[in-house]
Amino acid sequence: MTKKFYASIEEEISELKKERKAVILAHNYQVGEIQDIADFTGDSLGLALQARKTDAEVILFSGVHFMAETASILCPDKKVIVPDLAAGCSLADMIRPQDIRDWKAAHPEGVVVCYVNTSAVVKAESDYCCTSANAEKVVASIPAEKEILFVPDFFLGTYVKERTGRKNMELWRGYCPTHVEIQASQINKLKIEHPDAEFLMHPECGCLTKSMHLADRILSTEGMVHYAKESKAREFIVATEVGILHRLRRDNPEKLFIPASAHAVCSYMKMNTLEKIVASLENLAYEVRVPAEIAERARRPIERMVAVV
Ligand code: 13P
Repeated sequence: MTKKFYASIEEEISELKKERKAVILAHNYQVGEIQDIADFTGDSLGLALQARKTDAEVILFSGVHFMAETASILCPDKKVIVPDLAAGCSLADMIRPQDIRDWKAAHPEGVVVCYVNTSAVVKAESDYCCTSANAEKVVASIPAEKEILFVPDFFLGTYVKERTGRKNMELWRGYCPTHVEIQASQINKLKIEHPDAEFLMHPECGCLTKSMHLADRILSTEGMVHYAKESKAREFIVATEVGILHRLRRDNPEKLFIPASAHAVCSYMKMNTLEKIVASLENLAYEVRVPAEIAERARRPIERMVAVV
């Protein structure tokens, strides 16, 4: 078979997408060129909602594995594919299903809230699921007398505990290695150098416990995109993975966005490339499908997550 000639890789992806009746969903941490060809770019919650409402036959998820699993659970009749199966999440790997079973055995009346950055098998053991965009609301919706275990992100859990004033909430000690790259000392230095800048922080930041009082806003990635557009400020210090800067700068060319740390790069998120997206659409690979028994149990916490927007 002769290979068709395309003027650019973007054109090739656009053609393949039509042929495959596919939609491309990209997370805000993807490289700029992927964000530019995606049908939707957003945070974990926004992308799950887009997956649920698409009428495409194929969902190409350019993000990390747990996001594709969530899409597959929400859309069992669709084919969910990823450009690279090795694109995982270190934070998600910090909790195992057995850890939750052990906690539940010791706290039979308690409930488990898992962050979306968990594997489907962990979600299947959990009662509620949340993203950084709705964690506070999800926890606030749980009856006050219920003891909670929040997994796996300690810093998001700390933030939610502080916001809700909830005392009966135990936190798992997991963390995102990319966000812990961001140090409170760097933030203090940048705030002195840019006194008029607003400071936007993702709740996964390791510096959260030390710098919470300094943040103008603690937001999910999509929350940052919305906030930066609306704000009258001209400069922003951005404490999250650097991929977000592409969209912030593209949407607000007149504003200055300063990364809190240029080293906050998630190597998993950066495994996806335009070339791998071409191969993925051509071969309809690599498919992510959650075993039916796991999907069945994981669906309830995920449905609770997408119901809280
Ligand atoms: P958001 O949902 O805020 O985009 O965060 C996703 C994520 O994986 C951060 O590590």
